[in-house]
Amino acid sequence: MDLTWIEVGVIAQPALSNLQIPSIVEETFMTAQVKDIFNDLSYYSLFDVAEKARWLMRDIDWEHIDKSVVTPELIEMVKIITFGELTTYSATRSFMTMFEDDIDFTQWLAVWLYEETKHPHALTKWLAMNGEKLSGKYLMDGRTITPMTKSKTEMLTFNVISEIVAGNMYLATADTVTEPVLKDIASKLAKDEMRHSVGFENYTRKTIAESADPDYEKGIVLRSAWVFLQGEQFINHPVFETVRNLDSILGEAVIKKIRKQIVSRIGKLAGVEIAEPEQIYSVYTKFKADYRAKHKTKISTADMMANAPEA
Ligand SMILES: [Fe+2]
Ligand SMILES: [Fe+2]
Repeated sequence: MDLTWIEVGVIAQPALSNLQIPSIVEETFMTAQVKDIFNDLSYYSLFDVAEKARWLMRDIDWEHIDKSVVTPELIEMVKIITFGELTTYSATRSFMTMFEDDIDFTQWLAVWLYEETKHPHALTKWLAMNGEKLSGKYLMDGRTITPMTKSKTEMLTFNVISEIVAGNMYLATADTVTEPVLKDIASKLAKDEMRHSVGFENYTRKTIAESADPDYEKGIVLRSAWVFLQGEQFINHPVFETVRNLDSILGEAVIKKIRKQIVSRIGKLAGVEIAEPEQIYSVYTKFKADYRAKHKTKISTADMMANAPEA
């Protein structure tokens, strides 16, 4: 599931600008240094992992939907989840543009697009087999996104988070629903989403490492997580309208678990420890302060060198 783009479109961007770094951060891409694409790019191994994990539409036991437990509420819930799965095309287009010179990530996107297209496909088929039709307008409306960020790191971080949320949402769905075919679909989708979070994490790490200023990018990772986690639940944005509408599935314990997973994964990406989700803001502000101090030291050392009297 790709929730990121909705999020990015509606979240008021906090003032990271006071990180006091150059206004334009050049992100150097390493394409020129790749001598052996097969061994140097992570796409090829991620592809193998995806192929091993791949499930087929025909693996689902479509003939055994238990219609006795399919209620109008369940249909409504599956429609909400399906709608949340429809942004992949728009997201992929934006990703392809933003990362057009990234020969690694753009290849992996092909796998992601394929798998993410399969998610609403399976859910749409389940709905159809239960007599529920979705219109072309529904599909188009679901594709709407409003990306605002220009930061690659921020985009990728939001996707790491979105996939973790989606994975847990499907796990909870699989645990909760009694209709066996939907249960099976949800558990297959949960595994896909968790694997996607690892893929996006890989490319976030790579983007940070290849950037002109990795520490600055790590600050962006932390800020993105803070934006996402602020508030009691997650956030106040439409993607979690989906979550809120799934109250019966995503209770407090699940949300707590998701928040914990997010800070653990984000902490590793940024190279800091975040023991509890509530600490994200203090960790982020400390990171920012340390960054500024380090940056200042660097500048003043450079200044001193430049101004040093010649021997
Ligand atoms: Fe996904
Ligand atoms: Fe998905």
